[in-house]
Amino acid sequence: MTTTDSGDLTVADPAGARKPLAFPPGFVWGTATSSFQIEGATTVDGRGPSIWDTFSATPGKVDGGDTGEPACEHYTRYPEDIAIMRRLGVAAYRFSLSWPRIQPTGAGAVEPRGLAFYDRLVDALLEAGIEPMVTLYHWDLPQASQDRGGWVNRDIVDEFVDYARIAHAHLGDRVKQWTTFNEPFCAAYLGYGNGIHAPGIVDPASALKAAHHLLLAHGRAVTAMRAQARPEQEFSLVLNFSTPRIAVQDQAHREAARKVEGIGHRLFLEPVLRGRYPADVLADVAHLDALEPVIKDGDLAEIAAPIDWLGVNYYNPTRIAPAADPLVETPGALPGLRGVEILPAEGPLTHTGWEQEADGLADLLRWLAAQAPGLPLLVTENGSAFPGDEVTPEGRVHDPERTAYLLAHLRAVRAAIQDGVDVRGYLAWSLLDNFEWAFGYDKRFGLVHVDFATQQRTLKDSALAYAQVVAGNAVPA
Ligand code: NOJ
Repeated sequence: MTTTDSGDLTVADPAGARKPLAFPPGFVWGTATSSFQIEGATTVDGRGPSIWDTFSATPGKVDGGDTGEPACEHYTRYPEDIAIMRRLGVAAYRFSLSWPRIQPTGAGAVEPRGLAFYDRLVDALLEAGIEPMVTLYHWDLPQASQDRGGWVNRDIVDEFVDYARIAHAHLGDRVKQWTTFNEPFCAAYLGYGNGIHAPGIVDPASALKAAHHLLLAHGRAVTAMRAQARPEQEFSLVLNFSTPRIAVQDQAHREAARKVEGIGHRLFLEPVLRGRYPADVLADVAHLDALEPVIKDGDLAEIAAPIDWLGVNYYNPTRIAPAADPLVETPGALPGLRGVEILPAEGPLTHTGWEQEADGLADLLRWLAAQAPGLPLLVTENGSAFPGDEVTPEGRVHDPERTAYLLAHLRAVRAAIQDGVDVRGYLAWSLLDNFEWAFGYDKRFGLVHVDFATQQRTLKDSALAYAQVVAGNAVPA
């Protein structure tokens, strides 16, 4: 595979190559990012502080003491980033709005300069022929909202709905795709349960309360936006999944997997799809006395507001085994989980220490198709960080491991589609190397390398491979 200075992408066909595996016509290829991870410009144009500004400024919370500055300076460099997307040939770009840019204190006053930035971004994307896919919340809660209790305080639900209405009323004339939340699991469980994410609260009961309020805010916001939407607009939620794996097919292992899948996946999925929390999950977390007390009459019907598609984020599987003591608390992210051991990841790991298993994505998509018949799925994130990305003197970044991960996972998506799963598109995480939350800038997920000192962007080999896939609507066999 070679690239020239003119930006042409050419691939030498390996002799005897097998026929590429085609995707359905109209399959949506794209890339994804989020506001705090790439924008920088955290103090300009009236933006209020977010919980990630506070958290990352707290010593010991983020590797290397990294913060949201400078990130990718996308706030000013977005035209260059859109030009890169054009080079990749992608049809869609999933990004998030920064709530504290639009409402600096999370409620009340709107900052027009914040909205104006997203006007510029959306207009430039449309101009480039790239569909903007907006996520309203990708974890950068206004600090002022957190000061009122954040996602543990039910008042935030209506504050979020106001924000959703404001953003949708402003951009809805141009943006067709609206996602409420990215990974409520992480916002609730990592933010309030084990505290490895902002706001850094360590309290499993708070994590479950936060999860309920995030779900309620999702449903209520979908209804509010739909009430003011054009009919062609689509509303969605993005959930994260880690395919459960057990080494032994016995009752004890299956029971351990049921618990993990319950608190990790079905607690979010079932209320949205069917307007109820799964009874087994309620029983598993009952000892925390957290979830049921915050569920009010009518909440579940609101949460179940119909969505047009489900966003699926997948990175890695989880190995699960029963613990010797069924009541021992399981350390980790899942609030209330007991009697389960999360086993160490195996095989060549990614830079974030995650196991690589592309079949986990295919199995997950099949499982979701069975859970939610008739609901289209979109892979809204998938990608990998590996050490050693370096720009060569020729201006190349050789990243064979990321490229292999990407192609293997695309083959998995294709296998699920062949089995009849309705997967509408794939959005690679991420367009750019960026601020990887508690890992800081050291863990690079980008298809495009960012030199954070100079802000120079360089397409990695994985980006060139992705461009080939996009151009051919097919992945090499
Ligand atoms: C999921 C999150 O949505 C995204 O923000 C994060 O960077 C990736 N996973 C990789 O960890």
